[in-house]
Amino acid sequence: MNSNLVYSTQAISAPLKGSIRVPGDKSMSHRAVMFSSLADGTSNIKGLLEGEDVMATLAAFQAMGVTAQGPNNGELTIDGVGMRGLQAPEDALDMGNSGTAMRLISGILAAQNFPSKLVGDESLSGRPMRRVTVPLSSMGARCATDENGCPPIHIRGVDQLEPIDYKLPIASAQIKSAVLLAGLYANGETSVTEPAPTRDHTERMLQAYGYECRTEKLNDQASTVSVTGGGQLMAADIDIPADISSAAFFMVAASIVPGSDLTLEHVGINPTRTGVIDVLREMGADIAFLNERDIGGEPVADIRVRYVGLKGIDIDPKYVPLAIDEFPVLCIAAACADGVTTISEAEELRHKESDRISAMVEGLRALGVDLVEHKDGVEITGGKIHGGDVNSFHDHRIAMAFSVAGAVASESICIDRCENVATSFPNFIDLANHVGMSVNV
Ligand code: S3P
Repeated sequence: MNSNLVYSTQAISAPLKGSIRVPGDKSMSHRAVMFSSLADGTSNIKGLLEGEDVMATLAAFQAMGVTAQGPNNGELTIDGVGMRGLQAPEDALDMGNSGTAMRLISGILAAQNFPSKLVGDESLSGRPMRRVTVPLSSMGARCATDENGCPPIHIRGVDQLEPIDYKLPIASAQIKSAVLLAGLYANGETSVTEPAPTRDHTERMLQAYGYECRTEKLNDQASTVSVTGGGQLMAADIDIPADISSAAFFMVAASIVPGSDLTLEHVGINPTRTGVIDVLREMGADIAFLNERDIGGEPVADIRVRYVGLKGIDIDPKYVPLAIDEFPVLCIAAACADGVTTISEAEELRHKESDRISAMVEGLRALGVDLVEHKDGVEITGGKIHGGDVNSFHDHRIAMAFSVAGAVASESICIDRCENVATSFPNFIDLANHVGMSVNV
């Protein structure tokens, strides 16, 4: 990756005002493309995220014979080929920057009777993939990573997978989903037990496509999800809400810029995703859900955020899987809060698009923030944020988190390597400036 897109923020933003809709949910968009491709019939998707990650998923299915019209303004029509209708791709499938695409598609490809190879960009090529190839192999799939457990993933064809009962070693929706998707093709019932709640969009959306998926709660944390192989997905009309993970940048910005009063429209508030709101509320944030409704099996609301001074807290580790993608911007909230905020039991953050603990520590230090790094988290003492130069390490969420810091920094912040913001939030700069922040490319 040679390009270097630089963002620069102007010191101290105006209050954030107005009402905006951020792009569609990334997790749901990937799944809608996958399930529509495997369904019988034509599916219509609205609210799709037209970011590079989801486009990589769409391109992969098109390379396997799926036809689609769009996307256009978030609308995409997909002519499904049925569970057994995919064709061997001619080339390696390029998942770009997307771990979700690579891991979930592995579950599907593990059950096809043709070989395939999954590759990714520099960041994805360094991410752990044995977490999916190990359970898939125990179902009889023939798949392998490189010697470090990283991409490319080579998958060889099989005729039939065996069901498994898999206990997730990590609370990860991506691993859960990869095994469940392979389970759709297995000869019997596959079950996955998660140690703590993780996003359940796969389970909800399977049902929207007419596939039975059962969840049994074992206690207040753990549950077991099961599917029986051999069924069909039926085409569906899917309306994808705005991504709470993208909305989170504005929730924090409005919480830390004095005088702000901002509404985020039509945001998905699935309880497996709202950890960021629970944490911000514990820090004292003023966040209200307006007009709560149910859209196609997913809860949705408009979210009004008004400025109040935040206070530092010890973030309960139970929020780690429930706010896994929001920790970069929560670090910015912590840096602006009164007192110390502690993040712990969050080592998984080191395995995202970048090592997000070390990227946030390095960037916040460069901006004069007082903190202590731990293997599994960080302790941040709130105070003044200065200007300076920050490296986003090609990680979209690090780039956007520091753009939010720019709204309260005493001088301009220059953020390097921001090109991957396009993976999840292509119009971030436009919306940020529209609500009163000042971020330039
Ligand atoms: C995702 C699950 C999360 C999250 C990622 C999207 C998904 O990963 O970080 O951005 O769509 O299932 P893990 O489940 O591996 O933590």
